[in-house]
Amino acid sequence: MDPIINAILKPKSIAVIGASTNPDKIGYKVVENLKECGYKNPVYPINPDADEILGYKCYANIKDVPYVVDMAVVTVPARFVSQITRDAGEKGVKGLSIITSGFSEVGDHALEEEVVQIAHEYGMRIIGPNIIGVLSNSDKMNASFYNYLPYEGKAALISQSGALLIAMAAATYTRRVGFDKMISIGNQADLDFADLISYLNEDEFTTCITLYIEGIKDGPRFMEEARKCKKPIIALKAGTSAHGAAAAASHTGSLAGSAKVYQSAFEQAGVAQADDLNDMFDQTLALSLQPPMKGDNLLIVIYGGGVGVLATDAAEKYGLPLKFAPQDVQEELKKHMPSFGSAKNPVDITGGAGLKGYYEGVKYAYAHPWVDGMAVLYCETSVTDPQEIAEAIYNALHESGASGKPIAVSFIGGERCEKAVEWLIEHDIPTYNAPDLAVKALASLRKEEIMSQNADNNFFKPENIDSEKARQIISIARAKGRAALTEVEAKQVFKAYGLPVSPTALAHTEDEAVKLAEQIGYPIVMKIVSPDILHKSDAGAVKVNIKNEQGVREAYKLITDNSLSYKADAEIDGIAIQEMAPWATEVIVGSVNDPTFGPTLMFGLGGIFVEVMKDVTFKVAPINEATGLAMQSEIKSSKILQGTRGELPRDQKALAKVLAHYSYMVHDLRDEIAESDANPVIVYEDGKGVAIVDARIILTKK
Ligand code: ACO
Repeated sequence: MDPIINAILKPKSIAVIGASTNPDKIGYKVVENLKECGYKNPVYPINPDADEILGYKCYANIKDVPYVVDMAVVTVPARFVSQITRDAGEKGVKGLSIITSGFSEVGDHALEEEVVQIAHEYGMRIIGPNIIGVLSNSDKMNASFYNYLPYEGKAALISQSGALLIAMAAATYTRRVGFDKMISIGNQADLDFADLISYLNEDEFTTCITLYIEGIKDGPRFMEEARKCKKPIIALKAGTSAHGAAAAASHTGSLAGSAKVYQSAFEQAGVAQADDLNDMFDQTLALSLQPPMKGDNLLIVIYGGGVGVLATDAAEKYGLPLKFAPQDVQEELKKHMPSFGSAKNPVDITGGAGLKGYYEGVKYAYAHPWVDGMAVLYCETSVTDPQEIAEAIYNALHESGASGKPIAVSFIGGERCEKAVEWLIEHDIPTYNAPDLAVKALASLRKEEIMSQNADNNFFKPENIDSEKARQIISIARAKGRAALTEVEAKQVFKAYGLPVSPTALAHTEDEAVKLAEQIGYPIVMKIVSPDILHKSDAGAVKVNIKNEQGVREAYKLITDNSLSYKADAEIDGIAIQEMAPWATEVIVGSVNDPTFGPTLMFGLGGIFVEVMKDVTFKVAPINEATGLAMQSEIKSSKILQGTRGELPRDQKALAKVLAHYSYMVHDLRDEIAESDANPVIVYEDGKGVAIVDARIILTKK
């Protein structure tokens, strides 16, 4: 656990620099909130003109405090913050929480950088600036200018928006979603999401981490820390930044988008995404209180009626379709319900079962090894007391002898239900006011288990790659002032990373073209190789299915003429002579550098699927072969690869290998490759491999 972050989030003493005697000022509010919310450790207000504030002795300067100060909250105007930071550093303060606004968010990056630099000179770390502050129930520490600590619980919120953090802190009481910590990180000038995830992973008071994100500073570091984190992480991502997609020169560039890349990055790093604020609260409730669901067997117990139908629909919608419980489970459950009940799944205990039947049914089902997770759904009736039902559920679980399986509950009804819901949540049972939300909560717990199994093994480094050779090809092209590689050069780079490019050679004369064609074997394809003609077909500079010498000679002349009439001053390297790959399923593989996450890999079916339907999927590079296979099922047209309408399945394993190698190439050469495409890539029948027919690499600007 990082001791400096610990000193900020669990300080043994706090100074408030800019504490004020004026109750309307933020510097007063912070001192007041520390006091009113019950912070037990020493508080040192710092103000040049006051002797005491709210009963705390005041010091003119932080350096005058004769005791150790762990954390200082800064509430002086921006222009004083550099000097304050230096004073705090000289005093030996460990970390700062800078509430003050007026830094990079208003364009003053220089001031922000200066403050961070001073802090680092003294080994201090900073939260903020431009924040509400930090709040922690376990220490009764409200070092913020919002009046209350959140509803007590086990989650931790890190929020980039201060206003939203305040609103959420207030809403925790009406939603009954408990948080131990709420951390406002504002401009993330120093400590960012990744640092805090790493800290909270080891914090004994945190069981799940909830993020409100507008933008991540360092994507790869965020992913690394999220992957390492053993606790569930839920992210609500707001806003999508401009990606420059329209200006992108390659195909992949125009299909990528920040939102898609964030989505993939979260999935790859095992971070659950929330659809909206409601979903963020709902998922936090489940993930902070219950363990992940180890298998797919969801059992729903209902207390009569239509909620069962709604829950069954929801189970299918959220990816946990119901299965009938095994016969022995059904037989046993029947013993606890009237003859008109149902022991299938959903299990309808019915109102006629009475409290005892309900207790016995839930207890038996929860303990049965077939059951991986359970939803208990109750509708208020005139013959039952919701509180008694709540207690029966709790007792049944605790007396079942089973543990480690998640449960979610739904109570629908009036005021009496409200109280029972509160009681259940206080007893760590996530309870919702609609059956579909309870089922959705279990689906999130199931997804958490699946993601935590997959998140760690995404790293991949292929063997026998020649990155030196690839870099040499690139540096020769750069020396010629090129912004892109020619097809032949790009294929050499691909080959250096073990990618199966179809044999291609470069001819500089007609005679050489004939010789190379004979070496490769007819039929062949001929294409212009020019750094000035990236879209070769548009220039009429590609000829396919050339079957003999005469064809080669004719094509050579035609391609040269067409290229020069397309661009009279085009620099021409020669004409590529290439094996005519037999036709099969065409796919496209490509990459583009995302400003946050670095190289991303795109995959989709070629032709109309990519042009019109934009049926593609993205991953942050690198990926392994298992993810390469998963990508193939993610596209809508995946059935074409799996074999449909009498067609044999395609070589998905070989394609997965290509995707993994390609992703490693763009990751390894991220300082050199800005965008790239392998388009088309021909995928043959299972066992017959893959051939990359065309290649394009656009270089980074240096
Ligand atoms: N050392 C100690 N105390 C000092 C120093 C110093 N070097 N310099 C000034 N002070 C004292 C002042 O005397 C004053 O105390 P007093 O009222 O007793 O005289 C106190 O510090 C505050 O200074 P002011 O000049 O009165 O500043 P003010 O309180 O008006 O504003 C603040 C300071 C709150 C930091 C302001 O500049 C600011 O940034 N406000 C926005 C903060 C914010 O909203 N952050 C969250 C953004 S997130 C969201 O969207 C909600």
